[in-house]
Amino acid sequence: MSAYDDIHARSLSDPEAFWAEAAEGIHWERRWDRVLDDSRAPFYRWFPGAVTNTCYNALDRHVEGGRADQLALIYDSPITGAIERFTYRELRDRVARVAGVLAEAGVEKGDRILVYMPMVPEAVIAMLACARLGAVHSVVFGGFAASELAVRIDDATPKVVLSASCGIEPGRIVAYKPLLDEAIEIATHKPAHCVILQRPQLEADLVEGRDLDWADAEASAEPHPCVWVEATDPLYILYTSGTTGQPKGIVRDNGGHLVALNWSMRNVYGVEPGEVYWAASDVGWVVGHSYIVYAPLIHGNTTVLFEGKPVGTPDAAVYWRVIAEHDVKVLFTAPTAFRAIKREDPAGELIQPEQIAGLRALFLAGERADPDTVQWAEEQLGVPVIDHWWQTETGWPMCANPAGIELMPVKHGSPTKAVPGWDIRVLDDALNEVAAGDIGALVAKLPLPPGSLPTLWQAEERYREAYLEEFPGYYKTGDAGYIDEDGYVYVMTRTDDVINVAGHRLSTGQMEEVLAAHPDVAECAVVGVADDLKGQTPLGLLVLNAGVERDNAVIEGEAVRLVREQIGPVASFKTAIVVGRLPKTRSGKILRGTVQKIADCEEYSTPPTIDDPAILPEIAEALRSAGYAGG
Ligand code: COA
Ligand code: AMP
Repeated sequence: MSAYDDIHARSLSDPEAFWAEAAEGIHWERRWDRVLDDSRAPFYRWFPGAVTNTCYNALDRHVEGGRADQLALIYDSPITGAIERFTYRELRDRVARVAGVLAEAGVEKGDRILVYMPMVPEAVIAMLACARLGAVHSVVFGGFAASELAVRIDDATPKVVLSASCGIEPGRIVAYKPLLDEAIEIATHKPAHCVILQRPQLEADLVEGRDLDWADAEASAEPHPCVWVEATDPLYILYTSGTTGQPKGIVRDNGGHLVALNWSMRNVYGVEPGEVYWAASDVGWVVGHSYIVYAPLIHGNTTVLFEGKPVGTPDAAVYWRVIAEHDVKVLFTAPTAFRAIKREDPAGELIQPEQIAGLRALFLAGERADPDTVQWAEEQLGVPVIDHWWQTETGWPMCANPAGIELMPVKHGSPTKAVPGWDIRVLDDALNEVAAGDIGALVAKLPLPPGSLPTLWQAEERYREAYLEEFPGYYKTGDAGYIDEDGYVYVMTRTDDVINVAGHRLSTGQMEEVLAAHPDVAECAVVGVADDLKGQTPLGLLVLNAGVERDNAVIEGEAVRLVREQIGPVASFKTAIVVGRLPKTRSGKILRGTVQKIADCEEYSTPPTIDDPAILPEIAEALRSAGYAGG
């Protein structure tokens, strides 16, 4: 039996023993009554009765345990030219003061705090300060529009918002504060205070009585100690796209999350405490939560916070410069970043071998890793390139080639095998397991391991309906794929309306809701079409109300602007096309899959349930004239 087989089998045959052993790596102020509470199955809780604090485990424990002068955080911002380094002691001290700011603003254990920040050290400090108080943070990605922010404010009802005056994108400064003010204006819930970090690139106006200047407040605050919380208390809420405009508030607990992330650093990523680990993502996404902020710090690593892009800040060599300058051992990013680099530097001429000599592995996730990109990265970097599969919901990888246990032979197109703790199966509609190689729904057998979502924020019924109902006894991932005869998992496509744009998860259903609100639009469909750089990009088809005589191009432009204003630039919604009608089944279901295949020049068959087959050539023609479908 291989090391992987042995550990994976143990993790499934006796999960309580397996995770109790892993939990020894964490400080518990009080130990658990039970490792796993299955009394409310299919709702499970890990480490009930235990008391701990995530910030204590991420910072104070290391300061007290000999890492006080080790670097905890390196902020590297090619977009502003700044590089700053924080030891564990320095980071702990700043976090304790910001926790003091929050406490003085009346924040207590269990209160929610919304964090709307660019990639600056204060974003990490904000998250850890919430954890220190037992307050529940909800970080919102900077690329979302005010109305998206408002939806999250109303759902999480934060007492305080932590934000900054601006973010910086290549070629433009994004004024965050007016977006925040607008969001608070739209939202029904009004936070009591906003603490605003003034960045020199663009200062913001503060609202008297409500807004506090971050620097002033931090300078005068008393450091606050860690507040002990239950292992099962929520650490954060992270909203992610579902099928509708109402995002899902994924809840993460404290105890299970600490245990799983700590375990994953050595076993999945193969890093030792003290080493430098870099996840080139954004704190607004789950990758940023788990692998920029929490896991590296919990495990005693040095984490890199990168405010830049893989290309254009200033060029496609920036990743190699960062790796060399900070002695990065493991890099984690999305395939789209490597596609961007490859496009700028196809022959890898900007990669100097001595700059990446210390790098041991590249991990890719967030979207399907296309074999071309994986192969290019393997050839250019000369290190294992590890595709791994996970989701906001799971918090850490479900499938990977576990570098710290055993590197198995790579099969391009597969994120290898189920990570210990995860029992991944493929089921058909009748809930039967399919044969090796057959496609079906990818599911994980319950109970899910620690670290994965216990519920949705104040929506347990929605959690059950969305994830647990369709396949009783299993968690539905929403992905379809297959497992081959060697146990390698292949993740092929989503089974819902979610598309993946540059590693960002977006809902086509949500975009349709926005488009349908345009006064001239009678109905619409949004599909994800293939894109060389971003993997997929959204494309909207619009059918106008009878009698509308305005120019189609004007309406198309308004539709594009509407999505940008309502959802945000992150949606990358650049094309809407007016068509005469949409292809539908006889029961009225829009044939989005067929539209997508036509747009991508894939072979398609006319669905037998189609209402009128003559419409497909019409759609193909409309798509061709807009540059799709081979046009
Ligand atoms: N705040 C405000 N706007 C933001 C933003 C932020 N934090 N992040 C992105 N945006 C904007 C971009 O400026 C862009 O706006 P534009 O339409 O005016 O150009 C839009 O949102 C789309 O952004 P993105 O999809 O990231 O495309 P891009 O063209 O700016 O960059 C890549 C393309 C590939 C370089 C970029 O996606 C990237 O670096 N990806 C790395 C992978 C990653 O971080 N994945 C996250 C999950 S692991
Ligand atoms: P998110 O919740 O934003 O992390 O997005 C999760 C979704 O991204 C998954 O459900 C998959 O559809 C997709 N995804 C993530 N990692 C991979 C991968 N390695 N291969 C294929 N798809 C992936």
